[in-house]
Amino acid sequence: MRNHWSGRLGFILAAVGSAVGLGNIWKFPFITGQNGGGAFVLVYLLAILFCGLPILMAEFVIGRHSQRDVVGAFAALTPKNNFWKLVGWLNLAAAFIILSYYGVVAGWTLDYLFKSLTGAFTSQNAETISGMFGALVTNPGKQLLWFSVFMALCLMSVISGVKNGLERWNKVLMPTLFIILFVMAAYALTTSGAKEAFKFMLYPDFSKMSLSGFLEAVGHSFFTLSLAMGAMITYASYMDKNEPIYPMAIRIAFLDTFVAIVAGLAIFPIVFSVGLEPGAGPGLIFKTLPQVFATIPFGSVLAVIFFILMAFAALSSAISLLEVLTAFMIDEKKVNRKKATALMTIAVYLAGIPSALSYSTLGKITLLPGKEILDSLDYVASNYMLPLGGLLIAIYVGFVLDKKISKMEITEEGRSFLSIFSIWFFTIRFIAPVAMLVVFLTKIGIVKL
Ligand code: PFF
Repeated sequence: MRNHWSGRLGFILAAVGSAVGLGNIWKFPFITGQNGGGAFVLVYLLAILFCGLPILMAEFVIGRHSQRDVVGAFAALTPKNNFWKLVGWLNLAAAFIILSYYGVVAGWTLDYLFKSLTGAFTSQNAETISGMFGALVTNPGKQLLWFSVFMALCLMSVISGVKNGLERWNKVLMPTLFIILFVMAAYALTTSGAKEAFKFMLYPDFSKMSLSGFLEAVGHSFFTLSLAMGAMITYASYMDKNEPIYPMAIRIAFLDTFVAIVAGLAIFPIVFSVGLEPGAGPGLIFKTLPQVFATIPFGSVLAVIFFILMAFAALSSAISLLEVLTAFMIDEKKVNRKKATALMTIAVYLAGIPSALSYSTLGKITLLPGKEILDSLDYVASNYMLPLGGLLIAIYVGFVLDKKISKMEITEEGRSFLSIFSIWFFTIRFIAPVAMLVVFLTKIGIVKL
């Protein structure tokens, strides 16, 4: 018998754990900052509704109905059609690649947590603090150390299985993350930048939004929901038949969006109060925020809280990807869980070493023009593999998979959610794939905007 979640809460926490990650706390605030704020947030919300949520439901249908790992799922649902098995492989490859470099970035959060615990930011000037980031990523020993620690944590949480491992860890990680985020947001709202931050995030000024910001919002809507990397298909394969898909999906999408917005409301007031630039880019969290923590009251405590939050978010997302790989070994290669987890962790670890060394020992190597190893992998995964995977999943569920299967899964054998099903089916056939296609064609440069 396949292992299942102990109940609805276990599944929701795990899926939210996967969805809420560095994408919400690190990426969402800085891309919102770069794209002018409110208008970007509005487009992002629409993208979640018309693209992210429908594809999330599609992945739940695939995973729950097949009760298999991501490659086996496509093989089981359309056994005569080998092409679609390739989509399973594409998802699996995305999980592998993303985990290998995400583990390195997650390692940075551990190093920053350690720094904040030991008071490294206290009474340092801005230049010293932003220099710390460069010093960290160019130090091969430290990179490998924190990457190893993080991968060991992933191994520990996945090795004990669905109920005793994943579910238990997420039951601690997720509520703690929510509490920490609220504490930070509550504090941020008392600072002098709160009003400006609210206006920045919630007032849509479309003159500040470019077409590429539009595409970025669509792309991010499914990165943030962990789509096209096998995580939601695999997690849904441990879902009981009697759990309704739509209410679960909507809660997960809502919580993920909510965390992103609250993370923005926790970060921007602090950024504005000290007059920093909201569009500072990827360095916003690692270079700018610690400067703020060094100057504001309770800053050193806040720094610790914040980096615990980041580390938890990264861990609960990373374990969902390790589970994708582990489930594949268990279901397809008939390896037991302990061995499967260990093998996959080692494989990801070895594959991640070049990323860990990409700004130091291997700093001269660029896989794509001007991009170091880690940046190249992120670029390929986020810009090519995920949009393509999302597009193919929408086409698969919309046009290839027997409609009866989706209908049965979503309407609970015709008992409820009939109109939801019709709206969803239309969206997954005609709206989501068109949006994904435009994103994909633009990313690969066929369509120029
Ligand atoms: N949904 C995740 C996020 O927003 O950070 C995406 C993700 C990235 C999931 C990396 C898992 C992972 F290892």
